[in-house]
Amino acid sequence: MDTSTIVILDFGSQYTQLIARRIREFNVFSVVLPCTVPLEQVKALKPKGVVLSGGPCSVYDADAPAADAGVLGLGVPILGICYGLQFIVHHLGGKVVGAAAREYGHAEVTLVAETPLFRGLPGTLDVWMSHGDHAEALPEGFSLTAKTSNAVAGIVDESRKIWAVQFHPEVAHTPQGMELLRNFCLDICGAKQDWTPEHFIQSTVERVKAQVGSGHAICGLSGGVDSSVAAVLVARAIGDRLTCIFVNNGVLRKDEFRKVQATMREQLGLNVVAVDASERFLGKLAGVTDPETKRKVIGNEFIRVFDDEAKKIFEAEKSTGEEIAWLVQGTLYPDVIESSSVHGPSHTIKSHHNVGGLPADMKLKLIEPLRDLFKDEVRRIGRDLGMPAEIIERQPFPGPGLAVRILGEVTAERVAILQEADQIVVDEIKKAGLYRKVWQSFAVLLPVKSVGVMGDQRTYANTCAVRAVESEDGMTADWAPLPFEVLRTISSRIVSEVRGINRVVYDITSKPPGTIEWE
Ligand code: XMP
Repeated sequence: MDTSTIVILDFGSQYTQLIARRIREFNVFSVVLPCTVPLEQVKALKPKGVVLSGGPCSVYDADAPAADAGVLGLGVPILGICYGLQFIVHHLGGKVVGAAAREYGHAEVTLVAETPLFRGLPGTLDVWMSHGDHAEALPEGFSLTAKTSNAVAGIVDESRKIWAVQFHPEVAHTPQGMELLRNFCLDICGAKQDWTPEHFIQSTVERVKAQVGSGHAICGLSGGVDSSVAAVLVARAIGDRLTCIFVNNGVLRKDEFRKVQATMREQLGLNVVAVDASERFLGKLAGVTDPETKRKVIGNEFIRVFDDEAKKIFEAEKSTGEEIAWLVQGTLYPDVIESSSVHGPSHTIKSHHNVGGLPADMKLKLIEPLRDLFKDEVRRIGRDLGMPAEIIERQPFPGPGLAVRILGEVTAERVAILQEADQIVVDEIKKAGLYRKVWQSFAVLLPVKSVGVMGDQRTYANTCAVRAVESEDGMTADWAPLPFEVLRTISSRIVSEVRGINRVVYDITSKPPGTIEWE
């Protein structure tokens, strides 16, 4: 069965990924491609419709992003959004001009014509605008469908099946935006709502079966949702020809090495090789205090340990005559979009380390079963696969683990102190029913000692920072206004239960300008 597809051409808007997510929320598959892709690539996807995204440029800028204008003649319905509207007007012979006043933020739009795009919507809409230029003269065949007091807000040429709006239907600040996108995808494009978890699971399992044939695959497990869902999907396809490798890098949370193994084997039925390399990692981390160096040390050591284990596994398989080796990675769609975006990959603020570095001298082929999915879709698939909530709802945890939450040198003793404090934060946040409401909540061990008093005794011990943030995707975040009672309990429990900490502070920095992790 061919999945109905909506293609989104990205002109560089910060909201492009949101368009795809919104469309997928009503179970229609959508893909984001840079606006510069060859027309043939768009045609090959047999899209039911094409959305032209917004973008930061003016159509008159020297480096204005442009799509092959042939896309406007494909014969499938087109929806231009913001810059997408201006691109349509400019390329089809209308006129775009710089506005005297920029429209940014909330605006009220009056709908002035009936068109299927606005079916079921009220006569005026609250919308989100973000533009400098606007359309002054419409191309031949187009008519006005919506306006603000200042400018054109919507146009159509029904004979060419081209619609466009100046505002952003994809953002939450346009409350009726979802209905508009639904009208476009379902009524105008006739897309089927066939992007469902069952459909995804079934087609992915079939594809992996066909890809791997009688070969073997390995997968690095972190205990997090992405690698676990990827492993369960691949295991559905090839059973115990998948071997998962789970490495204790010495900077996991309290009891995590044991608990993750138990869950993966007993509840998920995965074939897991667990390697306790904590001494090896802590040895390499001795004396290292620079955050980037820590990340590199852990990343490199991980690849070495993983490589050794992978070789052992494949050596064993070769004796059975198997040559073809596969590596499962939990790459997600935002990484795929990012690496092919019109802007190219964004520059590195912190080097990220994830499980599954490629063993250097082995010819492994990649299976990336999640490369079409957003994080919330991965969770949906995990739920449909019957995976336990403790995995599906787990807060993100960085690859370099507690090492980036221990400022200064990472030693076994400091890891143990932080593990205790971290456990208390997680416990109390869960007890307060906040674990799923916040994006992440954790403790950070600072290289700062201060004086305190306990039972008439002077203390001189470490400081622990508590961090809790709210976020949609980890790209931006606000510090969470945790209830004082929760903070009070966390603080008093840490100071009284964790030997080595006598002071607790709460981090009230958002991202930007802070980052979520401290290193
Ligand atoms: P920052 O600290 O950059 O973190 O604001 C953003 C999100 O990414 C997580 N993070 C990582 N995840 N490998 C990962 O898989 C890493 O090396 C890594 N470093 C940070 C962080 O926990 C937050 O959710």
